[in-house]
Amino acid sequence: MDMSNLDTSHQYDVIIVGSGGAGLTLALSLPQHFKIAVLAKSSLTDASTYYAQGGVAAVLDETDSIEQHINDTMIAGSFLCEKEAVQQTVEGGQASVDFLLKQGVQFTLDEQDQLHLTREGGHSQRRIIHAADATGKAISTTLVERAKEKQNIQIFENFIAIDVITSQKLGSLNENRALGLYVLDENTDQVHTFLAPFTALACGGAMRAYLHTSNPDIATGDGIAMAYRAGCRVANMEFNQFHPTCLYHPQARSFLITEAMRGEGAYLRLPDGERFMLRFDDRAELAPRDIVARTIDYEIKRLGIRHVWLDITHKPKEFIKEHFPTLYERLLELGIDITKEMIPVVPAAHYTCGGVMVDEHSQTDIEGLYAIGETSYTGLHGANRMASNSLLECFVYGMSAAKHIQANFKDNYQSPTVPAWDDSQVTNPDEDVVILQNWDELRQTMWNYVGIVRTNKRLERALHRIEMLKNEISEYYQDYKVSKNLIELRNLVLVSEMIVRCAIKRKESRGLHYTLDHAEQLNDLQRTVLNPKDSMIRSEKINL
Ligand code: FAD
Ligand code: SIN
Repeated sequence: MDMSNLDTSHQYDVIIVGSGGAGLTLALSLPQHFKIAVLAKSSLTDASTYYAQGGVAAVLDETDSIEQHINDTMIAGSFLCEKEAVQQTVEGGQASVDFLLKQGVQFTLDEQDQLHLTREGGHSQRRIIHAADATGKAISTTLVERAKEKQNIQIFENFIAIDVITSQKLGSLNENRALGLYVLDENTDQVHTFLAPFTALACGGAMRAYLHTSNPDIATGDGIAMAYRAGCRVANMEFNQFHPTCLYHPQARSFLITEAMRGEGAYLRLPDGERFMLRFDDRAELAPRDIVARTIDYEIKRLGIRHVWLDITHKPKEFIKEHFPTLYERLLELGIDITKEMIPVVPAAHYTCGGVMVDEHSQTDIEGLYAIGETSYTGLHGANRMASNSLLECFVYGMSAAKHIQANFKDNYQSPTVPAWDDSQVTNPDEDVVILQNWDELRQTMWNYVGIVRTNKRLERALHRIEMLKNEISEYYQDYKVSKNLIELRNLVLVSEMIVRCAIKRKESRGLHYTLDHAEQLNDLQRTVLNPKDSMIRSEKINL
């Protein structure tokens, strides 16, 4: 096909990278006269949002309160949460639920036709709204439908953002402003230039950095890596959440078994049937996730077993099928009848608690650049995210970014002239096996050395290997044409390096960061901040 006539330069009011809960909330909350581009790496629903099971946390019951939700979040986060962010998010619960209902999301109702509230680890109350056990699917498909109906929203599927274009990268010595992005169109293999006064990174998390993960393939930390390269600070990357219960099945790709199953009464058992969580925490199966995942990891290693068991067989068959219809069917296809048999489960990498530092309006350090959802660090999650708080964060901060963009929009904004992507100095790669090899090595290294239990020695080993991989990938990137796999690998290796550097910097065990070399907790509450300006990593006292 002759590509020479394709128009590869685009001008918008707002460019949103990501079609998950965060990106689409922003798109649907902006005024209809804004010209908006939504980019997605693959199809619109291929996002963590679609796969969410448990639900969205919000204070809705009259016996519940904002204070209790704040308190639960702080406890789950090992008190490393930043209070203002927690307050903003929790207080935004009702508005988020109203937004979702207005878009038409169908949540499960109780006998009184009120939103049914389920329970998950760390929550002292029932406060999770859900659509049976496929909440993300209900949210994602509804928001995608609404976005497709809007004339002012243009959707680009299979468009992969490569890097943010900033005024400083173009030579400005004064302000650093985001001007747009270079984006690879996978349909034509051409790199496009997208320009706008406002760019939002809503690219999800980075847990594909680990060999075993609950995350979809898109979760390669692109937003975090792009923001860092553009000059934004990134915080708390050492806190990677491992979900306690992902399916262990040699013939199937691992998938999540929702925490709501434990919320509705399921037990964790050892091969001899013991409910072992009772030995470790009074909250048993409903202790915060870091504690449950660590305990399972400990028991698996102690007994030399491959998995533990999740058991809901003591609940009535109809109850199980009504609450968990998707999991019931899916596991039945794999030969497990959950009404009669226990489910083999293991922990797997699930959620990136750290990310691009933003203020209450989701603004990053760079004017015109926003980060929302799992890509961002708002301060909400502290050392361990409480279940079902992340979707809530997507909606609250998506709406708050929309307000800020609207307030700062100028009719007379003129995009400066930006050079087109230059690939005149690169060639087609001679063999792609290099990417595959480095990809496997990276994810294996992260799993073995930077997992649930860490040591100084393991982290140093990981850093050494990751630095070598980073150099090799960087050379490859300079010499060859970009491809989706190369873009993702370049981002994943940078984000993995951030995770390891932050983990080495934190000299304590807190929440999800557990190291045998520093079992104690420090008195000071600190966040770990990576600053690209001087490549330094610092511990900063957090805002209480
Ligand atoms: P995502 O929904 O992951 O969307 C990211 C988007 O960015 C995608 O559209 C992707 O294509 C796009 N993208 C990424 N990089 C690029 C690029 N370079 N160029 C173009 N596009 C790009 N949280 C809860 O609160 N409750 C739950 O019940 C829950 N269950 C979960 C179950 C599973 C299996 C998983 C994986 C997560 C779950 N979480 C849950 C976490 C929650 O789903 C995510 O944190 C949240 O959905 C993230 O939303 P997001 O919009 O930030 O990113
Ligand atoms: C789950 O359903 O267990 C996932 C909930 C979450 O990650 O918040």
